[in-house]
Amino acid sequence: MDRWQTIIEPFRIHAVEPIRLTTETERGSALEAAGWNLFGLRAEDVLIDLLTDSGTGAMSRDQWAAIQHGDESYAGSPSWFTFLEAVRELFPFRHVIPTHQGRAAERILFAVAGGPGRVIPSNTHFDTTRANVEFTQAEAVDLVVPEGLSPSTLHPFKGNLDVGALERLLEERGADVPLVMVTITNNSGGGQPVSLENLRAVRALCDRFGKPLFLDACRFAENAWFIKTREAGHAERAVTDIVREMASLADGMTMSAKKDGLANIGGWLALNDDSVAEQCRNLLILTEGFPTYGGLAGRDLEAIAQGLREVVEEDYLRYRVRSTAYLGDALVGAGIPCVQPFGGHAVYLDARGLLPHIPPLEYPGQALAVELYRAGGIRGCEIGTVMFGRHPDGAEAPAAMDLVRLAIPRRTYTQSHIDYVIEVARDVAARASTLRGYRIVREPAALRHFSARFEPLS
Ligand code: F0G
Repeated sequence: MDRWQTIIEPFRIHAVEPIRLTTETERGSALEAAGWNLFGLRAEDVLIDLLTDSGTGAMSRDQWAAIQHGDESYAGSPSWFTFLEAVRELFPFRHVIPTHQGRAAERILFAVAGGPGRVIPSNTHFDTTRANVEFTQAEAVDLVVPEGLSPSTLHPFKGNLDVGALERLLEERGADVPLVMVTITNNSGGGQPVSLENLRAVRALCDRFGKPLFLDACRFAENAWFIKTREAGHAERAVTDIVREMASLADGMTMSAKKDGLANIGGWLALNDDSVAEQCRNLLILTEGFPTYGGLAGRDLEAIAQGLREVVEEDYLRYRVRSTAYLGDALVGAGIPCVQPFGGHAVYLDARGLLPHIPPLEYPGQALAVELYRAGGIRGCEIGTVMFGRHPDGAEAPAAMDLVRLAIPRRTYTQSHIDYVIEVARDVAARASTLRGYRIVREPAALRHFSARFEPLS
């Protein structure tokens, strides 16, 4: 280990984007206009935007240079081959099908593999994955290990799939299971990684029951870094080697290049099965585009190819994971309960723990997220009863946890931006007992967190 403790960003700034400073009064008016829903804000009214790490990162000099090589030929563009080679370098699947983002790959995969009566197990389905499974009337089942559901339990691989539970499901309903999914890292469960040992055990079960295994690989590089640094026997391995082993254990993958592709848009579906691939390509042509560009421009394919080379660099990954933990350590140090250990891409604040006087149906996560914005212009994302509390039958019930996710865009904010976030969060936590809940005054039929309007309770 290096003897210097300061985490330096392993890059210099090459182009700058202004951040517009706002006052608390201005932010109060912006909140009122947005119905206290942070998705309704104008991004210019946000100082530090931690809503998501998806597509919001900074591209490198070499990615911007690669964009100039973008070739926009409809079929067989050189940019397609550059992309294909970069994907296959890490994930040597026989078929690679480019899409405009991750959920388009999910939509195509489950249109082929899903359907009424089918059941798709995963450690935890991300919400778009679950929605795409359920849209085909199949059932999405989450089988994460018990540690993955307890915010404060320390375990190095809280994203692991519960192998015993998967075995029982395959014994009882094996005929209904078209494939098994594993999300690396487990975003809905706090950005927690999956170990190689667990992936190997899931692979062995899939072999025993003759099921294909698919990775939702959005944050594959962060997952590989956690394997290298936390799992015995992998410390000396190259990250690329670990990534290729994860790929070798699977039969296919869905991917959002907006995360560990280090790009602002893009994704793909990859798999080995020729006949499934043909069905998927036919669907691709219906909604995304010709199979050598999917939903992307040639220049996007170039940016992703270069991003894939950069995301596996060890200096980058060391900084990425340490700088996220830097935020988490400071928040925990300030007495703010968080999901631990910290994931790679985000810190998840336990709002129910911090605001025990606000009952779940008065949305403690919303109260905390709104106050972080009002006080300091920081935009996080409620992941709790607002997001998951309304059920298809119309009933409302508390979600399993009320969290606020502070997701860190890649290579975008400096340590002083994060120090500012820490200062604001400390101030809000010190006044926690004065925060009040919210009520929803208008909500749509589904996915209410995006567009509901709220009112503060007095
Ligand atoms: N799978 C996981 C694990 C994700 O985190 C996401 C997106 C997707 C699939 C879908 O990819 O957005 O390219 O269609 N997560 C973003 C987030 C939106 O904020 O966590 P997409």
